[in-house]
Amino acid sequence: NEVLKRQVPGDPNLSGIDCWSDNKQRKFKNDFLFGAASAAYQIEGGWDAHGKGESVWDKFIHDKPSRVKDGTTADVACNSYKFYKRDVEMLKELGVDYYRFSISWPRLLPEGLANIRNEIGFDYYENLIDELLKNEIMPMVTLNHFDLPQKLQELGGWMNEDIIDWFEDYAKLVFERFGKKVKYWITFNQPDTVCRYGYETDFFAPGVNQKGTGEYTCAKNILLAHARVWHLYNKEYKQKYKGSVGIAVSLNWFDPLKNNDTEHAEVAERYRQFTFGLYTNPIFSKEGDFPAVVKSIVAKKSKEQGYTKSRLPSLTSEEIKYLRGSADFLGINHYTTVLVKDAKQSTHEAPSCFDDANVESSYGEHWEKSKSEWLRSAPYGLYKACLWLNKNYDYPTIFITENGWSTDAGLVDDSRVRNMRGYLDALLLAIEDGTEVLGYTVWSLMDNFEWTSGYSERFGLYEVDFESDQRTRTARKSALVYKQIIKSRIVEH
Ligand code: NOJ
Repeated sequence: NEVLKRQVPGDPNLSGIDCWSDNKQRKFKNDFLFGAASAAYQIEGGWDAHGKGESVWDKFIHDKPSRVKDGTTADVACNSYKFYKRDVEMLKELGVDYYRFSISWPRLLPEGLANIRNEIGFDYYENLIDELLKNEIMPMVTLNHFDLPQKLQELGGWMNEDIIDWFEDYAKLVFERFGKKVKYWITFNQPDTVCRYGYETDFFAPGVNQKGTGEYTCAKNILLAHARVWHLYNKEYKQKYKGSVGIAVSLNWFDPLKNNDTEHAEVAERYRQFTFGLYTNPIFSKEGDFPAVVKSIVAKKSKEQGYTKSRLPSLTSEEIKYLRGSADFLGINHYTTVLVKDAKQSTHEAPSCFDDANVESSYGEHWEKSKSEWLRSAPYGLYKACLWLNKNYDYPTIFITENGWSTDAGLVDDSRVRNMRGYLDALLLAIEDGTEVLGYTVWSLMDNFEWTSGYSERFGLYEVDFESDQRTRTARKSALVYKQIIKSRIVEH
């Protein structure tokens, strides 16, 4: 019976944790890497300090503060611009192998283009990297985590294909300066989120709100920019520096609402392709290109809506070839599982990527709730996601680039501990069943600015006191548990 549950772990009536109770002690190998993550805009502050340019997020929130639930801004955030040494101290305390952080493009290039450089910005990241290396913590650097230079947005941002060149110029400067010291690179964080919420709608910066084409046009350009930089590194730096370059995609798991219902199963698979598949298929599948189901649905709907061609741009055979295999690893930001079924037929008058995917989502009744509406604990979804990737992309090399949990402020965070243990258990099983995972990253090292939720959802292993000038950081219970797991390689309950 236990074995059966393991093979069919997707019973939404169980919390994921219940599925694994075979009482076998599993261990992470010694070379498995543990890390913690953050992102520039969410922690740094110093939003206009020492020559930094404006990012789309600075503008988005300054223009209309009511966009943030609690009316706060990220102008100071955790002030890691000033307190980065304290951050490294915390990482050391945890005993992590690496720190995943991002570089603010407009801190280095205030106008986005490579002709004007802000040396103080380069020095900031050099100091952070040196401090990490001094403490034997490897830097894992994301080149762009949502905060596009505003000047580039004024030129069209991710809707303008020239941005592929601009991103390459930026990446080249970064590789030149830090390539010797950084071995793990991530081009983009959650391009799906940027394109869907920033271009198709106005939920996120830059708020372009171009329905029906925003996401798809952005997706094509951001994918090609990713591939350009992977090829750049591969050609110019790989031999010299021996690093690797990947991409981090938001990859939650979508399960059919009813488990043994073939129609629901089809809907779930379609939704996987409309969400992460749009980004992973071109890079990691054997055939390349956008997923077939996405291509055919968008083409069909576009025609019905009177467009002369599909709202989803096509990829030429050269582009397909250029994208295919353009990553040394697949970074997955995995947080939750969502149950889906077909949405009631919507009108064709208002084209949008959501209408194209056409699903209605819900959560398992018994899944524990976090502080974030969208985030429930269902660790079995991570196991299923890994097995899906193995099957569809032939055992890709994976990094869990984010996994985490939100709570209210407070140091006793038992729900975060439960969630972390559950997901690490699921990961151990996925590894036992053949998944190639290099490392696991907790989101986040400390509380930070959670985009339009401000400071109302706390994701940190460390609590941050946003009232104090020092932005005092204090370890939560989960920090101590994580430290123990890293040390023992065992998930104790
Ligand atoms: C994904 C994003 O990469 C990160 O910026 C965000 O804070 C977390 N998920 C939590 O929502």
